[in-house]
Amino acid sequence: MRALKNILVTGGAGFIGSNFIRYLLTKTGSFSGKIINLDALTYAGNKMSISDFENDARYVFEHGNICDRELLESVFKKYNIDTIVHFAAESHVDRSILGPESFIKTNIIGTFTLLDVARNFWKERNDVLFHHISTDEVYGSLGKTGYFTEKTAYDPRSPYSSSKAGSDHLVKAYYHTYNLPVTISNCSNNYGPYQFPEKLIPLMILNMIEDKSLPVYGDGKYIRDWLYVEDHNSAVWVILNNGKQGETYNIGGENEWENIKLLNRLIDITANKLKKNADKIRGLITYVKDRPGHDRRYAIDCSKIKNELGWKQSFDFEKGLENTVDWYLSNKNWVDSIRSGEYQLWVEKNYNNRK
Ligand code: NAD
Ligand code: TYD
Repeated sequence: MRALKNILVTGGAGFIGSNFIRYLLTKTGSFSGKIINLDALTYAGNKMSISDFENDARYVFEHGNICDRELLESVFKKYNIDTIVHFAAESHVDRSILGPESFIKTNIIGTFTLLDVARNFWKERNDVLFHHISTDEVYGSLGKTGYFTEKTAYDPRSPYSSSKAGSDHLVKAYYHTYNLPVTISNCSNNYGPYQFPEKLIPLMILNMIEDKSLPVYGDGKYIRDWLYVEDHNSAVWVILNNGKQGETYNIGGENEWENIKLLNRLIDITANKLKKNADKIRGLITYVKDRPGHDRRYAIDCSKIKNELGWKQSFDFEKGLENTVDWYLSNKNWVDSIRSGEYQLWVEKNYNNRK
């Protein structure tokens, strides 16, 4: 039996991590353990994303970097950690192209440090678990047909996906070499509340609100498989409870969309809620220079987690997009905290001249 009592969540102030903690505290019913959220609060981490549960007695926040071995050792000791859900990462492909170094540090060295501290702390324990959150981007790019399965060979193309592939290999190495109890999940593109607005869906929603241009890379026919963040987190919870040691599970939305088609759907939903003219918003679509090494298509075969662990998605895309648009429209303080200051300066410097 897994202990699942003192859960260290890394990167819990980011998009998926904050939603995961919220899911654990409010949707699992039975969770009575402790959640320790360790986050460095980089540009992508936001205290406002975790303020609704900061006073929950089952929750505690530790500010720190996963590359800091001493800090990790003290956190493991202080809270007697028995489970890790490792979300912390540099997560945006475009940023990895502009500056790969922080990706190597956090995603590879940070994951290595966490693995090593866990191994030293847990020794031979078998009721513990290191769950590593990864991405389908490690598998590379698909043509018009086919799906990524857990057996697909790794073929990462961007500094981001390469650094995630490196971290996946390290996790597997710690399982095979040191018997560290691990599981890995590789998921497709997430969307939902609290996502940093450098990613496609929130970026487009916020630009629509502000009548800014809607930048579509290349021909707009790139395909992603969209997964609602709560469906991702329910899958992670299922793996923590019943996943088999050493196994990888792919998690997908079974929901493929060309970027331009998705954007048109999002325009209809957002225009309706903003009471704006959809065709006028469509006029803001601007085709910009393509991303170098842009992967054409991602699509996940998630039959393994469905068949072996009984997980399935609960949100259809329409409902997920509606929830997401509603959330961005009604959380102006969160949006303002991000759209001002450093992020805005970064966008002006790096993004606004992409034509
Ligand atoms: P995010 O960028 O929104 O959040 C990352 C969080 O990690 C932030 O809170 C940040 O402060 C923290 N962090 C970064 N470097 C750190 C460090 N060195 N030490 C401690 N904390 C640090 O990311 P996300 O979208 O929530 O992604 C979470 C995980 O899921 C990542 O591992 C990512 O690779 C993976 N993933 C994301 C998606 C997606 O669509 N967002 C898809 C597949 C996989
Ligand atoms: P993104 O949200 O950055 O996720 P990822 O690169 O990890 O898949 O991008 C999703 C898709 O949208 C990808 O094909 C790139 C494209 N895209 C745009 O066309 N315009 C944009 O402004 C952004 C951020 C992304």
